[in-house]
Amino acid sequence: HASMTSEKKDLFTVESPNVVYTDDDIKSKYVYRTTSVSQAGNGKYVATPKETVYDFKVERKVGKVGMMLVGWGGNNGTTVTAGIIANKRGLTWDTREGPRAANYYGSVVMASTMKLGTEAKTGKEINIPFHDVLPMVHPNDLVIGGWDISSMNLAQAMDRAAVLEPTLKNLVKKEMAEMKPLPSIYYPDFIAANQGDRANNLIEGSKACMAHVEKLRKDIRDFKETNGLDKVIVQWTANTERYADLIDGVNDTADNLMKAIENGHPEVAPSTVFAVACILENAPFINGSPQNTFVPGAIELAEKHGAFIGGDDFKSGQTKMKSALVDFMINAGLKLTSIASYNHLGNNDGMNLSSQKQFRSKEISKSNVVDDMVEANNILYEPGEHPDHCVVIKYMPAVGDNKRALDEYYAEIFMGGHQTISLFNVCEDSLLASPLIIDLVLVAEMMTRISWKTNDSEEYKGFHSVLSILSYMLKAPLTPPGTPVVNALAKQRGALTNIFRACVGLQPESDMTLEHKLF
Ligand code: NAI
Repeated sequence: HASMTSEKKDLFTVESPNVVYTDDDIKSKYVYRTTSVSQAGNGKYVATPKETVYDFKVERKVGKVGMMLVGWGGNNGTTVTAGIIANKRGLTWDTREGPRAANYYGSVVMASTMKLGTEAKTGKEINIPFHDVLPMVHPNDLVIGGWDISSMNLAQAMDRAAVLEPTLKNLVKKEMAEMKPLPSIYYPDFIAANQGDRANNLIEGSKACMAHVEKLRKDIRDFKETNGLDKVIVQWTANTERYADLIDGVNDTADNLMKAIENGHPEVAPSTVFAVACILENAPFINGSPQNTFVPGAIELAEKHGAFIGGDDFKSGQTKMKSALVDFMINAGLKLTSIASYNHLGNNDGMNLSSQKQFRSKEISKSNVVDDMVEANNILYEPGEHPDHCVVIKYMPAVGDNKRALDEYYAEIFMGGHQTISLFNVCEDSLLASPLIIDLVLVAEMMTRISWKTNDSEEYKGFHSVLSILSYMLKAPLTPPGTPVVNALAKQRGALTNIFRACVGLQPESDMTLEHKLF
């Protein structure tokens, strides 16, 4: 079974004087072509082609990688764990619709392809799995662990989640019963009061402190050592927290944030304490929930330590559609005038979000996702003009993890006409989120093995601490301070695929196909 084998040879090599393969790494010299624009006095633009030469280096040895999830016992945590075990063991199980086999559908890295190029003789497009472009870790090889404030073992927690078929659960139950989340930190003020009942697996203390940071750091080190890992990637897939207030002197700088933790300041969220612990352990930390974990002080701390962070909020269903559909509409010249987004769901995430402050975090992260596309079109929109955008989330226990998302897109078309597009999106939320968790780990891990330099510098260095390359998988992409946020799905995928191509010295796929037009 192909998907079970993680050891594999390169599917292709690049033949170019600019690309050198050694046992340890792939080195490429890459010409990055952009267009630099200036505005002349008469209001006209001057566009100047610009070239920058970068040297990229990709470490070929993947090593042994661990994935630690905060909120491991939740719907996402249990579903992604069961999914990886099922894939690793090549399981098939019976359903009322017949047998089903483990797969990685929904993972860009594992289940999508990229055009490598055109076959010289036939002119045929050659597409290869995304996973084969660079030497990446295989999800089947991830060692999984994590924390939860609920003490249930993963088999019990998987039952509580009510996501997977009983036949599949039976096959992975034994292995999952052995998996027990580490105790976690719980500051009741940050998540909904209705979560209190499951908080029975706790590290002592109900506000931030250095002892918590040190304990989490030790958990990461122990996990690494016990499993003989080269590196660990940590991901927050725990409950959505309320926003932390941004307070000068508390979370505005790295030093102030560390002091605030020492002094037990009540505005430091558990997710921020996790982020700090990971930064200090140099373990990439990704936030899959919408809250502002990465307060300015946390970002500065990551930059100081050259540690990778990424966020925020998995982009699984409604927002993914939005960032594709709005990209299409506005780029088609249709004037989107309103988006009404309504959801109901009945899982624990929904219960937590039924509390106002936690809902507010989600509302913020769901709201800004069309800004870049609107701003880019000054024919349809005046400066500062926005489509109306409303987000509603309701808790409906009966539908469980089967989230419903109803969206209405209303647009102005030719000559004052209107177009209304209604979408009804139903699926298990955790089955969409789990492959994103995998992609985030795989890409973040990859980024730890890519370095770059310019011609005149001696030393290779890593990408910026804030991994905006993860944007495709995230609703409210975190970008390096002062840099633009890209929400448009196609652009996000382009950044991901083209950066990977650049690392092996290949130009972006331009889709011009001149070879089929000029002959
Ligand atoms: P869930 O409620 O089933 O799981 C969250 C888990 O986190 C629970 O087991 C809870 O006990 C645990 N937890 C809470 N606070 C903790 C802490 N301080 N330390 C350790 N564990 C803690 O939720 P689900 O469905 O797994 O979603 C997880 C998060 O991902 C939520 O914030 C949700 O908003 C976010 N998300 C989920 C998406 C999806 O499609 N499922 C999409 C986008 C975001």
